[in-house]
Amino acid sequence: MIVTIDGPAGSGKSTTARRAAEALDYVYLDTGAMYRAVALGFLRAGVAPTRDGAAAVLPSLHVGVRYDGPQMRVFLEDEEVTSQIRSPEVGQTVSDVSTLAPVREYMVEEQRRIGRAQDEVHGGVVLDGRDTGTVVFPEADLKIFMVADLDERARRRQQEYAESGDERSLDEVRAEIAERDRQDRHRDLAPLRRAADAVELDTTDCTIAEQVAFVVDHVKAHSKWGT
Ligand code: DC
Repeated sequence: MIVTIDGPAGSGKSTTARRAAEALDYVYLDTGAMYRAVALGFLRAGVAPTRDGAAAVLPSLHVGVRYDGPQMRVFLEDEEVTSQIRSPEVGQTVSDVSTLAPVREYMVEEQRRIGRAQDEVHGGVVLDGRDTGTVVFPEADLKIFMVADLDERARRRQQEYAESGDERSLDEVRAEIAERDRQDRHRDLAPLRRAADAVELDTTDCTIAEQVAFVVDHVKAHSKWGT
């Protein structure tokens, strides 16, 4: 069972995908974390996120994923970088890195390989990202497209910042998310869009428990009826 969850920043994808995977005894594949690991590789090499930069960095860069139970850990070669990829520097670089064709080709190939391998072992994988239902697994069993109002997404992101001791104004966070939306939706390669056969979930007024239940119920309905 391959389940994809795509949507804009702050729509609640990652928490929902992780908890739904746990509830179903599946594995969670955070594709954004893999792009972040590549961005960290660019930063460490001191190389700009351009096509030439990609030609210099990618041949010797290996992003790996390992699981401790359902917990996904991200590696650059043999070094675990699960926390380092959440730094503000990585956050600033990753949007540019994720527009590069060779990076996307590498990521899509790896995500398909990991997704299929984990599906074989665990009987199911929940992926989240921007293009998991359109490009990575267009044949996925269940596709969900999550949306939420910009203001609500900004409030959630502001709270996440506050929890890590970073106090920011709502206006600043709203502008940052609006810019992220623009980049995700208007880039040439694999722009964020809803797959024609995706089910839409608007999380503006949903609790996390409701979002998880939505995914789990759809998976169970699919398993029962094959639809
Ligand atoms: O979800 P996130 O913030 O961790 O994603 C990090 C970046 O990677 C973000 O700029 C969007 C990009 N991304 C992508 O282009 N395709 C994906 N499948 C997942 C993330």
